[in-house]
Amino acid sequence: MAVNVAIVGATGAVGEEFIRILESRKFPVKELRLLASKRSAGKKMRFCGVEYTVQELTRHSFQGIKIALFSAGSSISKEYVPYAIESGAVCVDNSSAFRMDDDVPLVVPEVNPQDIAKHHGVIANPNCSTIQMVVALKPIHDVAKIKRIVVSTYQSVSGAGLKAVDELQRETASILAGKNDFQRKLFPHQIAFNVLPQIPQSNAFLQNGYTSEELKMVNETKKIMGDHSIRITATTVRVPVLRCHSESVNIETEKKITVAEVRKLLAKSPGVTLMDDPANQVYPLAPFAAGKDDVFVGRIREDESIDKGINLWIVSDNLRKGAALNAIQIAEKLL
Ligand code: A2P
Repeated sequence: MAVNVAIVGATGAVGEEFIRILESRKFPVKELRLLASKRSAGKKMRFCGVEYTVQELTRHSFQGIKIALFSAGSSISKEYVPYAIESGAVCVDNSSAFRMDDDVPLVVPEVNPQDIAKHHGVIANPNCSTIQMVVALKPIHDVAKIKRIVVSTYQSVSGAGLKAVDELQRETASILAGKNDFQRKLFPHQIAFNVLPQIPQSNAFLQNGYTSEELKMVNETKKIMGDHSIRITATTVRVPVLRCHSESVNIETEKKITVAEVRKLLAKSPGVTLMDDPANQVYPLAPFAAGKDDVFVGRIREDESIDKGINLWIVSDNLRKGAALNAIQIAEKLL
């Protein structure tokens, strides 16, 4: 049965992807309502060959809406999700507003689809870096029980929105043109030809020296995997890549698992594509993963510094599996 769907943040990096994925997966949309800020009201966007006009988000935007997909930042979600629920919609929220609330399910369909049923009007979509990591690690956790995770991320600028993509492109062009007068608006330092060990770019570091993105990876992983005993530490880094996050992940397991066993396991895991042929220089890369649905895993090696350790390289499209696709997979399960 077709339903009325609203997209909050339709003009953003994830919003545009929502539209494309609803279309390509033939999600049963009866009416589509595209919502954004006042600045974008009147803008035209296409869905299934039809032109839609973007409307300004207000508390009255959700009348008749069954599914509301939110990706306009945490403060917008906090303010407007309650209005959407009041109107009878179920919200899938891509922001961090409700992720750690006890009564809000935090879901990756390949990992904990059973949690969807526990919702009270909102289901949280996890952080992009967390999603791709747990899709790859859950099958290993199920057979060998992961005790500890050490992860370093290499995150693309699109994770910080369209303005960040624009800043990287313009700064790169400016540097290549030999100019040194580029005015940064978003990143605290040069992002072109550089890597920044600070995500998000706007937040100060927490007292323990970590960033909120790093804590999201720690806390969300435990909640999604349903195991608070896993010890996790993360370093999240912004790199001058347009799309797809890459991750170097080291795990220590309770039970010994070999490289061959990990490969065999991941080769048959839903949502994972194994790309691990070092002899032929085959391993996951951001330009390859861009626009694709799966989480790509390669460079699988034993960690020879401990008895039961494995290293992996995990790459996925942060706007798709890391955001819009995961949210739409949740919505599909809701229907
Ligand atoms: P707008 O384009 O009108 O600013 P991104 O993550 O790429 O930066 O996109 C953020 C999304 O959130 C955009 O669609 C943006 O709309 C939307 N947004 C930002 N502020 C508001 C607001 N106050 N009300 C509704 N939507 C907003």
